[in-house]
Amino acid sequence: MELFKLITEIIKQRKSCRTFEPKPIEKEILEKITDSLANITVPFGSKVRFQLIDISNLPDEESKKLGTYRIIKGAKTFITGAVVSDSAKCWEDFGYGLEKIILFATQFEIGTCWLGGTFNRASFSKKINLQPNEILPAITPIGYPAQKSSLTDSAIRKMAGSDKRKLWNELFFKESFNNPLNEAGDETYYQPLSMLRLAPSASNRQPWRIVKQNNKLHFYLQRTTGYNKLVSVDLQRIDMGIAMCHFELTAKHIGLKGDWITETPSVINLLPRTEYIVSWVEK
Ligand SMILES: Cc1cc2nc3c(=O)[nH]c(=O)nc-3n(C[C@H](O)[C@H](O)[C@H](O)COP(=O)(O)O)c2cc1C
Repeated sequence: MELFKLITEIIKQRKSCRTFEPKPIEKEILEKITDSLANITVPFGSKVRFQLIDISNLPDEESKKLGTYRIIKGAKTFITGAVVSDSAKCWEDFGYGLEKIILFATQFEIGTCWLGGTFNRASFSKKINLQPNEILPAITPIGYPAQKSSLTDSAIRKMAGSDKRKLWNELFFKESFNNPLNEAGDETYYQPLSMLRLAPSASNRQPWRIVKQNNKLHFYLQRTTGYNKLVSVDLQRIDMGIAMCHFELTAKHIGLKGDWITETPSVINLLPRTEYIVSWVEK
């Protein structure tokens, strides 16, 4: 998947958009985005598929069914997809894959917004002919951002604190969770970690915690208490896949080589509600 802008610029540019211009996406750009859907590879090898859904020509009734509880205004095109549910890391793979597509689209000034809760999952599942062994974790609208955001959009941003991120020393650690890392603490991984920190996450909970030990960075998920009870989808593991995507694309961009491995480390006085997900190992 070819990027035409610097990945760091694309990541800084992306923010959730919930209010769209009514004008359709230019044909050439839509074609590029459609092509990108077919070429997504994911780190844990789950079977994922992504699909574009255009609702501009649907009869009113049907497009209302696909509505997104009035949270998204003006969007006529969506990207959704499915992942086969029997793979252990299907949520992370889906998160990683759809975020790659979102970053690809962002470089063409296309607005997006991860939706894991506020959309009609049943109608979208029907639209993509979801199979019994598949799940549909999330969707995103795509389109040109409106000049002015709707009140709902501003209210959601404010409620989630979307313009803020946790401090470095709440997210990143060296050797063990007892030893927080600040911005000056790791020259080599400063950029990949900075770009990971800008990742979107459900309700902006930022559940990612990273511990660097020698040539490995261990990725942990610290679950938010009482979160995710209402949805059948593991939103916080999708968040982890998104964070992996930001980290890996930035690391590769600055010439760092590495691989993802799953090998529970002998770490490390775990924080409460924390589980190990994956490690990045320098090559
Ligand atoms: C997995 C996931 C699910 C999300 N679900 C919703 C949703 O259902 N409705 C919504 O309005 N925003 C949703 N969001 C968007 C987040 O609220 C948003 O990413 C976060 O507040 C950070 O803001 P930013 O994306 O502008 O950086 C979701 C984000 C992620 C990553």
